[in-house]
Amino acid sequence: MARRVVVEAFGGPEALRLVEAEVGEPGPGEIRIRHEAVGLNFIDVYQRTGLYPLPLPAAMGMEAAGVVEAAGEGVTHLKPGDRAAYAANPPGSYCDARVMPATQVVRLPDGIAMETGAAMMLKGLTAQYLFRSTAKLKAGDTVLFHAAAGGVGLIACQWARAMGVTLIGTAGSDEKCALAVEHGAAHCVNYAREDWPAEVRRLSGGGVPVVMDSVGRSTWEGSLDCLTPFGLMISFGNASGKAPPVEVGTLAAKGSLYLTRPTLFTHIATRERTQAMADDLFEMVGSGKVRIPVEQRFPLEQAADAHRALEARRTTGATVLTL
Ligand SMILES: NC(=O)c1ccc[n+]([C@@H]2O[C@H](COP(=O)([O-])OP(=O)(O)OC[C@H]3O[C@@H](n4cnc5c(N)ncnc54)[C@H](OP(=O)(O)O)[C@@H]3O)[C@@H](O)[C@H]2O)c1
Repeated sequence: MARRVVVEAFGGPEALRLVEAEVGEPGPGEIRIRHEAVGLNFIDVYQRTGLYPLPLPAAMGMEAAGVVEAAGEGVTHLKPGDRAAYAANPPGSYCDARVMPATQVVRLPDGIAMETGAAMMLKGLTAQYLFRSTAKLKAGDTVLFHAAAGGVGLIACQWARAMGVTLIGTAGSDEKCALAVEHGAAHCVNYAREDWPAEVRRLSGGGVPVVMDSVGRSTWEGSLDCLTPFGLMISFGNASGKAPPVEVGTLAAKGSLYLTRPTLFTHIATRERTQAMADDLFEMVGSGKVRIPVEQRFPLEQAADAHRALEARRTTGATVLTL
């Protein structure tokens, strides 16, 4: 038996329920993993509220690290006793132990602490694919990155600095902006009080070729106005609500723009790709170029308080649920 956090009906943080559940044995292609720490992500909020609907009752959480207890038939990359971490489907990481598909689970290098592993897989692999695959950034490029002091944000700031990319961040307070700059943002604009599109255009000398926007509704319009002709709008989240429906002609009117709406789970659909992306992330973290800032910790049974803090914009960096 293990503790597990589930939702039986979509709703506010109070919809999260702690239950006792049978863990069971892994079948073909599966492992049983005992967690040491669990990562909190904004996607957990979308799933709890039903913005991204799951069949109910639904187990929560998509990121964790722990020790493999058993490996089912056909699993060759993991064995009992291995330290492991993941960002993975289906959800269900808010628990002490679980049986799950092994495809998206990777061995955690010895030099990386369990808590770091739990905090970095979903957020770090997202920064990895946004920079390397979606935008194909290289030294000297400039990017606008919203919510730069958040979980994905502080990793992106450091990744940009390591690559020689100029990252212009935005964040909701002067303190958060200072944190983003400390982590490698070249500039950070407080979008709660400034005319941020004008400020971004000023800082960049006329606009940026790439925008990474996970805030959604409240930044959509301004983000398009920050792009230079042929610029790339990457919409990858909805922290303020869904981005509005797109009138395709807008992309022409604003300068032959490109628009994409990626998700990590397309990128980590195969074991080979998951491992290659994880190796890149492990190199960035292992070499010290990217430090995973765990700024908040909540016991598993207080997952609702963790959700409240994340939704109220009271967190910075990563948040971990402790077991
Ligand atoms: N598509 C993908 O593959 C993918 C993968 C991972 C994450 N994401 C997305 O990336 C974003 C960051 O994820 P995260 O887990 O690291 O979260 P996070 O950035 O730590 O938290 C979200 C941040 O969004 C900002 N925000 C702006 N308006 C908000 C509002 N109305 N309500 C709440 N927050 C608001 C807040 O920062 P300020 O106070 O500074 O505004 C808040 O701290 C999320 O939108 C998430 O869904 C997408």
